[in-house]
Amino acid sequence: MNNFIFENATKTYFGKGCVKEYLAFLSGQYGENVMVAYGGGSIKKNGVYDQVMECLKKSGKNVVEFSGIMANPTYAKVLEGAKLARENKVDLLLGIGGGSVMDCCKAISMAAVYDGDIWTDFWERPGIIEFEPLPLGVIVTVAGTGSEMNGGAVITNETRKIKTGRDYPKCNPKFALLDPEYTYSVPLKQMVSGSFDILSHIMETYFSLPDEDNVSDEISEALMRSVIRNLRAAIVNPLDYTARSNLMWDATMAENRIIKLGKRTDFQCHQMEHQLGAYTDCNHGAGLAVLHPVYYRHIYRDGLSKFRKFAVNVWGICPDQKNDEELARAGVEALADFIREIGLPSSLRELGVDEKADLKAIADSCAISAGSYRKMTHEEISEIFKECF
Ligand code: NZQ
Ligand code: ZN
Repeated sequence: MNNFIFENATKTYFGKGCVKEYLAFLSGQYGENVMVAYGGGSIKKNGVYDQVMECLKKSGKNVVEFSGIMANPTYAKVLEGAKLARENKVDLLLGIGGGSVMDCCKAISMAAVYDGDIWTDFWERPGIIEFEPLPLGVIVTVAGTGSEMNGGAVITNETRKIKTGRDYPKCNPKFALLDPEYTYSVPLKQMVSGSFDILSHIMETYFSLPDEDNVSDEISEALMRSVIRNLRAAIVNPLDYTARSNLMWDATMAENRIIKLGKRTDFQCHQMEHQLGAYTDCNHGAGLAVLHPVYYRHIYRDGLSKFRKFAVNVWGICPDQKNDEELARAGVEALADFIREIGLPSSLRELGVDEKADLKAIADSCAISAGSYRKMTHEEISEIFKECF
């Protein structure tokens, strides 16, 4: 394994009833002004909003609401939230939702206290945070990004047509509350795309050096099998608590830095999907589903031993008389079959991308990962996008 330092500052509360049990106590540790941030209103339909408000009332908080955080949150929305937080002298930010709400809140937690422009100083290029962002707590309502236990925030700058993420440990939420029952109301389409995002985070980590025996890869294999098994179970029965709880913790484990320890990580597919998202506003997990098999058909020969392991240890493919290359390729095709089985798109056309979309411009705007088995060029990324159509 490569050398590493590990820290994770988020205190995580997991399980049925955890919001009712802990939120009043947790919010009580901060000042009286709480900004409750959420998305398009699902929390009002499924009862989560009422539960949260009851807890905050119990601990005597003044609540200011910030709603309408959209999927693929924009920098303009971050600035709007930061202004509201400043005006109301907010002591604690409470984000309720999925990755979009959590990411937007992390950026707000910085913009609300920073005098400069956070896009220029911390997203356009990596920066060093020499101030304390506003404290942030999160309540997760959909399993997917794993944003609850890291400092990552992916923001779209609409004017610049750039969607980019940075992971600042100072942006780790102070606390995260994960009640799997809150995910029961997630629409099937979103549950499936969120789960594919989990799988993608694990694959993007697994398919990178080192290839020799290492515990991070072995945890990743167990997590990938868990996502596949539990997603199938949750599709059959959306109220399956075991399946929902496993998916929720799989998501956190995929992105709480543990499986990345001692690894380089790839994330080239994420770089490509983020730019696809910046140009088309597509769903994150669905975009990844289109890209992964095509990208892997390009690189599996460069990471043959790992792709071989993937086929055998994740998909249970019997090596039979297959040589390494045939076996590795069978693993990639098993992934492509799974994507079709769970109803995710397999082409950009199915994803709803317009035929006139400027795929070359999208490809040229993608960041190139340094950790891939083979470093991409913008020409090859352009080929991949064309093949995805
Ligand atoms: O907005 P509301 O009405 O709440 O509805 C949301 C939204 O429409 C709905 N939803 C969430 N919980 C629900 C629910 N509907 C019913 N019942 C519930 N319990 O789900 C929809 C999607 O929510 P969103 O937060 O956009 O999804 P997701 O969690 O997939 O987040 C996607 C964003 O996170 C970024 C993505 O790029 C994208 O911008 N990512 C963040 C990462 C990170 N911070 O570490 C890593 C990821 O790779 C990813 O890039
Ligand atoms: Zn992702």
